Amino acid sequence: MKPILDGTVEVHSYLGPDDERTLADDVLDGLTRPLKELPPKHLYDARGSELFDAICELPEYYQTRTERLILATHADEIAARTGAVELVELGSGSATKTRVLLDAMARAGTLARYVPVDVSATTVHAVAELFTDEYPGLAVYGVVGDFERHLGHLPAPAGPRLVPFLGGTIGNFPPGSRRRFLRSLRTTLRSGGFLLLGTDLVKDPNRIEAAYNDSAGITAQFNLNVLHVLNRELGATFDVDAFEHVAFYDRRRQWIEMRVRATAPQHVRVEALDLDLDFANREEMRTEISAKFTPKRLRADLAAAGLELVETFTDAEELFAVSLARVA
Ligand code: SAH
Ligand code: AVI
Repeated sequence: MKPILDGTVEVHSYLGPDDERTLADDVLDGLTRPLKELPPKHLYDARGSELFDAICELPEYYQTRTERLILATHADEIAARTGAVELVELGSGSATKTRVLLDAMARAGTLARYVPVDVSATTVHAVAELFTDEYPGLAVYGVVGDFERHLGHLPAPAGPRLVPFLGGTIGNFPPGSRRRFLRSLRTTLRSGGFLLLGTDLVKDPNRIEAAYNDSAGITAQFNLNVLHVLNRELGATFDVDAFEHVAFYDRRRQWIEMRVRATAPQHVRVEALDLDLDFANREEMRTEISAKFTPKRLRADLAAAGLELVETFTDAEELFAVSLARVA
């Protein structure tokens, strides 16, 4: 029997003391390696999420507006082909493009529930409130959690399910983890659900590098903000002004690397971990990779995860792709 969805709104948080532990573990593990590294999810505190939203508006950051255009062009077809009554959106952020899908489902007369999933509590609460107002009768079930660890807490499907994972966020996983993560989605997609996956495409490296080195310096602020997160959450003593933003395209691996680089030798104490770190002059810490895709890579990753590519939609310049997939 279908659950009764009557415009209710609820938000559940699965982040707790364990997650402070996750940041601590990631610092202990990542910052004591020969090439210092942190997973990108720590970029998204409240300030980081705001800065990401500002990035999406930048002239150089073609991804967001291109993906929105692709969605707007194909949303009715996607709604019809999936028959979805609910969206379970991974890494939903401020969900500005999601409206395009919700509107199409509303036009199709199927829209019942929206389930945003994000580590950023502020964005999940804001979106839950906003969408409840904007879509009368829509049930919103927000999940504040880590999509790598908490998908077991999703509510039971309300009917045919569409799982958008937009923005190219899948590219922020290293290749092996990417396939493992896609495989883990098979459970979320059980009983006929569809994945709607946004991926940035391989193109002129100059165009890609410009998107991560914008002239207004917003991406630099977004990147360096992670040092503020470490200072606040773990009592670290990073002198943020002594680090600079670095982003370059690795042509062989076909991914962007975002790093912070010390502009002079630095000693940093991480009080909560009783840890002392040294950065040599110009030493870098990797804060994100952002992989770019070819149709071949996309198909291979999906196949390796036991998913079948149903259709790929792209823009006229083939900058970005939105793909519909389901369990093979
Ligand atoms: N989907 C939006 C936002 C993309 S930014 C768009 O397309 O514009 C990436 C989003 O994923 C951020 O909101 C960030 O908080 C979230 N995120 C990153 N790692 C996460 C993780 N491990 N679990 C849950 N959310 C995560
Ligand atoms: C969320 N993610 C897909 C963005 C990207 O392009 O990899 C994050 C970002 N990093 C720098 N600018 C934007």
